[in-house]
Amino acid sequence: MNVLHVARGEAAFDELRLVELTPVEETAVAGPGDAARGAELFHRHPAACVLCHTLGGKGSTVGPALDGLAARATSAQIRESLLEPSKAMARGFEHYVVSPMPPMGTIFSPQEISDLEAYLQTLR
Ligand code: HEC
Repeated sequence: MNVLHVARGEAAFDELRLVELTPVEETAVAGPGDAARGAELFHRHPAACVLCHTLGGKGSTVGPALDGLAARATSAQIRESLLEPSKAMARGFEHYVVSPMPPMGTIFSPQEISDLEAYLQTLR
């Protein structure tokens, strides 16, 4: 659950208020993804992917290893995995009803999502 603290110090939960509070840049169209920036986000962001995924043998095994991801998933599937992780579970994780992975659109800007996608496309 997102809790946004507004200026008066109260929390707004309802959908409408959340939409109104979304900064303009959140809805701006993202430019082309930058794989180097995506790699930086992947490894260093506090919502670090490596808390749950391994890559090159490093990281955690809560989620699937992402080595070779781009060879087994289309760019559309990769995008959906990031934005709507619960929509289609990864192979071996079908027993989850709700993915433990947070929908990344709530954490990263559209540009950062593009950058992450560009990086994930390099994982062949
Ligand atoms: C809290 C744990 C957690 C975090 C943090 C997390 N993931 Fe996940 N992720 C999972 C789990 C569990 C799955 C498997 C279930 C599913 O498909 O959602 C998954 C699935 C995926 C898939 C689909 C993999 C496949 O084989 O189809 C991709 C791509 C992915 N995550 C990318 C990322 C990226 C990039 C980040 C960082 C921005 C990230 N994840 C952060 C837990 C996490």
